[in-house]
Amino acid sequence: MANSSLLGGENNPMASKQKKLELIEKTWGDCERCDLATGRKQVVFGKGNFESKLAIIGEAPGAQEDEEGKPFVGSSGVRFDELCEEAGLEPWDSYICNVIGCRPPNNRPPSDEEIEVCFGRITSLLGVMKPKALLLLGGTALRAMTGLSKITTYQGKELQASITWQGQVLTFAAVATFHPSYLLRNRGDKELENKVIRDIRLAHGLSKGSSWVEGD
Ligand code: URA
Repeated sequence: MANSSLLGGENNPMASKQKKLELIEKTWGDCERCDLATGRKQVVFGKGNFESKLAIIGEAPGAQEDEEGKPFVGSSGVRFDELCEEAGLEPWDSYICNVIGCRPPNNRPPSDEEIEVCFGRITSLLGVMKPKALLLLGGTALRAMTGLSKITTYQGKELQASITWQGQVLTFAAVATFHPSYLLRNRGDKELENKVIRDIRLAHGLSKGSSWVEGD
């Protein structure tokens, strides 16, 4: 007899992206793979348009995100939304999520172990969504998705990020930019803000170009 979770499953080419997203959220929603599960209120997934071609990836939920169950709803998210508007990126042009789904205590950066344990979640999200481009917000997202470190070296450059999903290597165009909380700490630094606006535009443009599957 057909199993309804398989019918809507991540592997089923007939299931809609929305159904597959729901399945990923169900699979990871009660995750206890690491100790962050004990301090979180809920696992935070994404917001925006999962059918779009641009995935924006931050670091980890903060207090407000943990409370509301949505990424980038706190003060750094508000600032980032303003810059997206200045860059001409509409809310339906992207889907925004984080490298890890649970809030670390005192908003400390996630450890390498926590990132590794949660990597299957972001891999599933990106594997199903199949964006053409990623915009990586800050050093943690840059390192997790590309293996590169030092945001100041790679900010604004056209990069590539690869994941292995269901045995296939998926490669995306990627752009790294400064994390919105860094922008908040440097509020009024026009040069910095203009760099971020340019990076948002670059990633948006790349999302309208092409992506490819290595080895095809
Ligand atoms: N809020 C998020 O959802 N992610 C961040 O990286 C920072 C704030």
